Amino acid sequence: MNYFPAPDPIPLPAPVWLFKILHNLTLALHLGAMQLLAGGLLTGLCLAIAGRANGNRNATQAAGMLIHRLPTVMAFVINLGVPPLLFAQVLYGRALYTSSVLIGAYWIAVIFLLMASYYGLYFAAKRADSGKPWIATGLAAFLLIGTIGFIYTNNMTLMLRPQVWAGMYQHSPGGLQLNVKDPTAHTRWGFFVLGALASSGCAMMLLALRRHFESDIRILLFRAGAFSAFLGVLLQAGFAMPIIKAQPAAVMTALMADPIYALSAYAWLALVTLLLIAATFAFLTGKPGAILAVPAALLGFLQLAAAVMVRDGIRDVTLRLAGFEVWDRQVVTNWSVVGLFLVLFVAALAVIGYLIRVVASARRIEEKYA
Ligand code: HEM
Repeated sequence: MNYFPAPDPIPLPAPVWLFKILHNLTLALHLGAMQLLAGGLLTGLCLAIAGRANGNRNATQAAGMLIHRLPTVMAFVINLGVPPLLFAQVLYGRALYTSSVLIGAYWIAVIFLLMASYYGLYFAAKRADSGKPWIATGLAAFLLIGTIGFIYTNNMTLMLRPQVWAGMYQHSPGGLQLNVKDPTAHTRWGFFVLGALASSGCAMMLLALRRHFESDIRILLFRAGAFSAFLGVLLQAGFAMPIIKAQPAAVMTALMADPIYALSAYAWLALVTLLLIAATFAFLTGKPGAILAVPAALLGFLQLAAAVMVRDGIRDVTLRLAGFEVWDRQVVTNWSVVGLFLVLFVAALAVIGYLIRVVASARRIEEKYA
């Protein structure tokens, strides 16, 4: 039985491999920003709670520093989410549109959840700026962000299960349902959203390098970051196991038979092991230093990129077994447009890098949250 509509008769304007590279690159950037947001908020909340419970001024101050930065991070999450969405629609539209319609009510709700969580972040940051408690608002924002992540995970897993689509449509043609029966929906959420502590922990270690912060705060940020990175890796490993176990044997065999995906899986294992070691050293020494923070940040991003590649492989192989071949598209490349696009794409990345540099080297203002 063929589950998928016929491909669009208009050929692709660029090779599939180029779309896939751009998709995976921009998705790794989107997920990296999302993990800084989710993990940073979670850690900020823990520090804020510890600060209030024990009257620990340093913890309150470090928590304030984290929440203060998160509205900016949210802007990156959203803007870096758009490119992979466009590439995914070009490559996988025939599956992705169907799953989006099936959970349509929730999928549309993402826009409103996003606005509410963004508002919550600003509100929490404003309260922290004026020395007021922000735990309740921060928690509400985290729940909203976690819900958005859950809806994404639902859609990205539902698009891989065409055999349940007809039944789901009959159950709720209005799209008032989620793909909660999927064996990987919850664990994938855990991997990306709770495992976020790995990325945000690495970013905290980098933040601790800023020399104008008080030295106690720098040590706290560095050690809490190292602990968070350690915990994040363990959580990712804990969630990765049931995700892999839930894959049908045919999917695993085809995945590991592909040299690129097999290499990505082994690379992920090696990178998280190295990150675990770096985080342990950083926590034990407790001395903020670039020698551990920079390699940890690099490992943090590379392990995420490797996970994105494995995720890509699981999708391609699963869809292929269901009768959808992503590589099987008519391509008529318009090289002048592709060239112009690549120039603009690199320029946009350079502008983002420049903006990050400007923010990093901006005039120091004293931050006081406690
Ligand atoms: C706070 C907001 C957001 C959170 C927490 C979030 C979280 C996630 C998570 C957890 C995934 C991985 C799902 C999986 O593979 O199981 C994901 C994928 C994705 N997200 Fe986001 N996201 C957010 C906002 C956005 C926005 C605003 C966009 C687009 C405008 C976006 C675009 C995407 C795309 C395109 C993918 C995957 C595409 C693919 O499978 O090819 N996200 N997101």
